[in-house]
Amino acid sequence: MKIFLDTANLEQIKEAASWGIVDGITTNPSLVSKENLQFDDLIKEICRIVLGPVSVESVSGKSDDIIEEARGLAKLADNVVVKIPIGVEGLKATKVLSQEGIQINTTLIFSPTQALLAAKAGTRFVSPFIGRLDDISHDGMDLIDQIVVILDNYGFETEIIVASIRHPLHVVQAALTGADIATVPFAVLEKMVKHPLTDIGLEKFLKDWEKVKQG
Ligand code: G3P
Repeated sequence: MKIFLDTANLEQIKEAASWGIVDGITTNPSLVSKENLQFDDLIKEICRIVLGPVSVESVSGKSDDIIEEARGLAKLADNVVVKIPIGVEGLKATKVLSQEGIQINTTLIFSPTQALLAAKAGTRFVSPFIGRLDDISHDGMDLIDQIVVILDNYGFETEIIVASIRHPLHVVQAALTGADIATVPFAVLEKMVKHPLTDIGLEKFLKDWEKVKQG
């Protein structure tokens, strides 16, 4: 499973990248707005730190505007993937842009039909938001199960980015479905590496090693 980091924070990106397990980055307007940095410079710097796909979101409404904006975003760096919200305008833009070779991540996916249409339009990634479904008492992971089967049934190359992840169990469940990618906030990544028994075990080993050194 590929792990993407869901953040636009340079410190978090640098730190996680140094662990050697980050395959890509996803950003969105809300994440970018927290950083108070010039947008183009921020994206270029993220793309310099992480060589894998870096999703950057389009904020235009009409397909022609999305296409123009996406072409500009794609010029920021070779590894930019343009995030386009699902919708009729987004589908039209995705068809045109994917034929030009610009990679698209279709975002704000909340149903299997949205994912199917995005795949047909040629998107490289779909981003179903599981946490936001869980928040309204719908099982987000059911959606992932369905999209995995649908894309597999018809041999689509579109990859599934499980997004809106809130805790490590979401990552485990996503991995069990066979979804290609989990995009995780840095706080979730930190929790994924930790276990209290590891800490207790390590402390004991180090204490016992002191006895070996003294003996
Ligand atoms: O990047 C999109 C997605 O992961 C947002 O997550 O926590 O705002 O629902 P959240």
